Amino acid sequence: MAEGKFITFEGADGSGKTTQLKIIKEFLENSGYKVVETREPGATAIGEKIREILLHETEKISDNCEMFLFLADRAEHIERLIKPAIECGKIVLCDRHTDSTIAYQGYGRGKNKEILRKLNDIAVNGLIPDLTLLFDVTIETAQNRVGKDKDRMESAGREFFERVRNGYLELQKENPERIKLINANNSIETVTKDTKDIIIKMLEKDRRINVSGV
Ligand code: TMP
Repeated sequence: MAEGKFITFEGADGSGKTTQLKIIKEFLENSGYKVVETREPGATAIGEKIREILLHETEKISDNCEMFLFLADRAEHIERLIKPAIECGKIVLCDRHTDSTIAYQGYGRGKNKEILRKLNDIAVNGLIPDLTLLFDVTIETAQNRVGKDKDRMESAGREFFERVRNGYLELQKENPERIKLINANNSIETVTKDTKDIIIKMLEKDRRINVSGV
């Protein structure tokens, strides 16, 4: 049985990562892989309820409550969905994961990043992505793509998103092997090509894909 893989898609709201995830899913399935598409927050039954609170609650939520809700969603997600899928040899494509917590709650909200790392470690129980794709866009492009209809997190304001973007870029510099930077200001086609190139390289290392036919 093929070895499973865990690939996470990261970036600010409006970076286009979800569009790319769907394109990559189709590409990998057409290449013969078994793929699971998932997201944080909100991939499990409990996670759906947590997502509803995090994105649509109109009462004020404290920063600690927000942090623990994202982590609770992750703990459930890892246990119920991600680990079992990887153990079955599937490629898991996950829209946001641990780096979102460091970028948004750490850099964005100003929570202690070392503590967040420890809490992330508890939530993931030893499972670390094989590859993380960071879709980087300027704040202007991101805000234009998000538009006027914003959820609770998207309404956080420009300075917050500047901190989030810089946080992601810091994370990439700290983890250059795992996190690959993609310029998501480019056209969808260019971003897709860059994304595919990185994934193919990773899979080729395992000799699991024949690129000549791609
Ligand atoms: P999305 O599904 O549109 O990406 O929305 C999820 C929102 O939650 C997005 O604004 C990023 C935010 N988020 C965090 O703040 N921390 C986290 O750990 C995760 C997974 C998401």
